Amino acid sequence: MLCPLPDLFAIVTGASTGIGFELAKRCAQEGYDLLIAANEPEIEKAAASLRTRDGKVEALEADLSTIEGVDELYAAARGRQVDALLANAGRGLGHAFLDQDFGKARQVVDTNITGTIYLIHKVGNDMRRRNSGKILITGSIAGFTPGSFQAVYNGTKAFLNSFSFALREELKNTEVTVTCLMPGATETEFFRRAEMLDTAVGAAEKDDPAEVANNGFDAMMRGEGDIVSGFKNKVQSAAANVTPAGVLARQHRKMAEPGTAKK
Ligand SMILES: NC(=O)c1ccc[n+]([C@@H]2O[C@H](COP(=O)([O-])OP(=O)(O)OC[C@H]3O[C@@H](n4cnc5c(N)ncnc54)[C@H](OP(=O)(O)O)[C@@H]3O)[C@@H](O)[C@H]2O)c1
Repeated sequence: MLCPLPDLFAIVTGASTGIGFELAKRCAQEGYDLLIAANEPEIEKAAASLRTRDGKVEALEADLSTIEGVDELYAAARGRQVDALLANAGRGLGHAFLDQDFGKARQVVDTNITGTIYLIHKVGNDMRRRNSGKILITGSIAGFTPGSFQAVYNGTKAFLNSFSFALREELKNTEVTVTCLMPGATETEFFRRAEMLDTAVGAAEKDDPAEVANNGFDAMMRGEGDIVSGFKNKVQSAAANVTPAGVLARQHRKMAEPGTAKK
């Protein structure tokens, strides 16, 4: 007699809105049970809308910029095998670095870097022990460019893009895959939360978060190293790799400096 296959299980962080919500939706469509997390009560609404599908969906409100918040998320999985970890939670922050509130700048580093790699350290060790699992990290094409007027954020994404490839190499003799999703500007809550609506990039037309998430999910399933979502972004990131850093920083000012949005 055939044994029924165990249900797949995924953790998606930053799933209350935007790219993370769309990643969670795609996981649900593909039959994964879900544990989704974000910092605000909105995560419960996201869970309710995902529960209309077959799989189980649990939601957790936790601050993933803190060690305690990540521990809470890991504990909420109750030892269940994590087949896919989609480490997506992240924050941006506009304005010149010296004008930023340092607490907010630190929150960007703690969420995008510390919380993300701490969660990957915990879940990744479990995956390596049993020799299976998929990790998707939401980096960004911002990681290719010194981000004047978004300096800390772009730095965190440069870290994640690099970290993702390094971890992938370390795990190459295992069945654990690591994929970096690198979106360009995408239509989510991101620019409002980053206080960047008065910038050219904040006001510009952006990519569809569902399309970005689907590209990321498909690349994760194929076990690819990275996916830059969208043709324009592919060209932009290829050009960034051969452009001097000073030129990139100057170009970034034109799209990210407060007041650059067309009136
Ligand atoms: N939008 C873009 O143009 C763009 C481009 C490239 C990469 N990305 C990356 O894509 C990812 C998703 O961003 P998005 O564009 O979808 O923006 P979004 O709509 O603002 O979503 C961000 C998600 O992360 C969660 N989050 C932020 N800080 C958190 C914390 N400390 N603890 C727990 N959850 C936290 C948010 O939940 P709460 O509201 O509850 O805090 C929300 O669910 C981020 O890593 C971002 O850097 C975005």
